Amino acid sequence: MAARTIVDAIKANPEFVLGVATGSTPIKVYAEIAKLVKAENVDVSKVKAFALDEYVGISKDHPESYYQVIKVNVTDQIGLRPENVNTPSPDIKTVATAGADYEAKIKAAGGVDLQILGIGRDGHVGFNEPGSSLASSTRIKTLTQETLEDNARFFDSIDDVPKHCITQGIGTILRAKHLLLLAFGESKAEAIAGALEGAVTSSLPGSAVQLHPHVTAIVDPAAGSKLKNLEYYKWVYENKPSWDAI
Ligand code: GLP
Repeated sequence: MAARTIVDAIKANPEFVLGVATGSTPIKVYAEIAKLVKAENVDVSKVKAFALDEYVGISKDHPESYYQVIKVNVTDQIGLRPENVNTPSPDIKTVATAGADYEAKIKAAGGVDLQILGIGRDGHVGFNEPGSSLASSTRIKTLTQETLEDNARFFDSIDDVPKHCITQGIGTILRAKHLLLLAFGESKAEAIAGALEGAVTSSLPGSAVQLHPHVTAIVDPAAGSKLKNLEYYKWVYENKPSWDAI
């Protein structure tokens, strides 16, 4: 569903600006987009992409830098032009200005048309950890112990996980025209229920999606298992209007 939505949007607007997320959740979506793009011969030469975040102090060549993760899973796989794909700079020397530079780049591209989001177990989106301002822009953040533990699987040991990152802010994410939140598995159930049905609070940064006018959430039964209004959402889906005006 996610890949179909995105590919159709690219067909309608060849200069589409796609916001991409790392983590394991969207990996299959990227593979499916690549498949559809090839099968349907979709022109992606003008599509731009912006990643949500990057570790600070890691080399761009490190296989777990988000630059590389996006290069392998998005740029190369889907066939985007490398010059059209952006990740925040991991360079410590430019860390003070990297956030503002990234915001300027997003603005110059006309803003993000659709932002793919995963969610951390602690409710983070991008790397906006609990306590992040709901109006924040791209900036440096310090990762929580929980996030370091979750991301240790990608490194030799937890000590190798960078403790700092540069991430689009929640304010940046909310400026995207459409948010597509994805979550799979039991470990995300609490965060999804909080994000979609809990109080809007910086303690659960994903809850900021409730402030956005156009959000689609795609969750599997396990990730949706703690949603209070699940039956109603199913009812809405089954009874969605068929007229074209919306
Ligand atoms: C990572 C990323 C987030 C991602 C989240 C969940 O640390 N910075 O953008 O959504 O954590 O990751 P996963 O999809 O692997 O569960």
